[in-house]
Amino acid sequence: MHFETIAIRTQTDRSQHREHSTPIFPTSSFVFNDAEQMRAMFADEVEGNIYSRFTNPSVREFEEKMAALEGVEDAFATATGMAAVFASFMAHLKSGDHLLASRAIFGSSYTILMQYLPRWGITFDWLPADYEKWQEAVRPNTKMLFLETPSNPGLDVIDLAFAGEFAKANNLILNVDNCFATPYLQNPAKFGAHLITHSATKFIDGQGRVLGGVVAGSSEMIAEVRKFCRSSGPSLSPFNAWVLSKSLETLAVRLDRHCENALALAHFLQKNEHVGKVTYPFLDTHPACDIAKRQMKMGGGLVTFEVKGGLEQGRRFLNSIEMLSLSANLGDTRTIATHPASTTHAKLTEEARQEVGITNGLIRISVGLEHIGDIVADVEKALKRSAG
Ligand SMILES: Cc1ncc(COP(=O)(O)O)c(C=O)c1O
Repeated sequence: MHFETIAIRTQTDRSQHREHSTPIFPTSSFVFNDAEQMRAMFADEVEGNIYSRFTNPSVREFEEKMAALEGVEDAFATATGMAAVFASFMAHLKSGDHLLASRAIFGSSYTILMQYLPRWGITFDWLPADYEKWQEAVRPNTKMLFLETPSNPGLDVIDLAFAGEFAKANNLILNVDNCFATPYLQNPAKFGAHLITHSATKFIDGQGRVLGGVVAGSSEMIAEVRKFCRSSGPSLSPFNAWVLSKSLETLAVRLDRHCENALALAHFLQKNEHVGKVTYPFLDTHPACDIAKRQMKMGGGLVTFEVKGGLEQGRRFLNSIEMLSLSANLGDTRTIATHPASTTHAKLTEEARQEVGITNGLIRISVGLEHIGDIVADVEKALKRSAG
């Protein structure tokens, strides 16, 4: 079946009420027919729902759909994207292990690597920018390769085909944060990824309503994630799972429009006199445009640009927008503008920000689904005002 059909037709078995749209299952626990069934389910001899920290039909529908859309066997859903990233580390790393991570990763993932993993004896290094130097970074105890592509907010693109081969040759777990691309634009498992994490809060919800996350992979890899989460408890709520599963039904059509609008905005920005560098994976000025076109269906919904006047003009730009939202989220129907240096990536040192291309004047736009003419008009007006 095709992506769109899987996203719509994967659903929980119909109940005796013959509902067309799946109901929500807001229940903490499930009942057993008798003591023997209860014993057998607790002993894992028989499959079935016991307690919603472990499994829940609404959550399971979302997990099964995400696994199918990523082209893998299984998935485990979590309360947030960060819980998914954290669980993917905790389930597969132990004290003494070493991790290699791409240099540009989301701020909270950075905090986990810098502040928490070392407390448990897990060390890490950044992958060199030059692919030819990756091999030098591998140590005898390197266990995992953690990548984010395209990255937040710099939109760095990493060659997944290269990473997949590299992971295989070095016997590493390839773990890819696929939040910016979504399974519609990019399937890391096709290139050999063993774990795929998502913040479902972004394009998967797509309307800025709920938080959620998911880790997808082979049955064997996800069994470890489930075991960790079953005890530590970052479970996704049935209501949020229901919202997210419904949202997946429209992911393909929404993403088509997000990408179309984002590319149009990027082209507009390239020609604007007040704008310096514009970054979008499918612009031929992007240093990894060829790689992006090989591994992504379209360029995604995020565009970044540099206002010519730096920090002050960046601030004035944000204060001059009228329709666009100033908000911390992304992947919403509403176009959102942010200033990463003073918000999501403020915890990084200025030097660390520069290394990953987060300059003081960098503006990130999560391009929404409003009419492109209105998005461009608002940005154009704010650029003019902030320069003057
Ligand atoms: C690339 C990436 N990964 C993970 C996360 C964390 O997701 P959540 O906010 O759902 O915990 C985010 C959030 O912005 C993100 O952009």
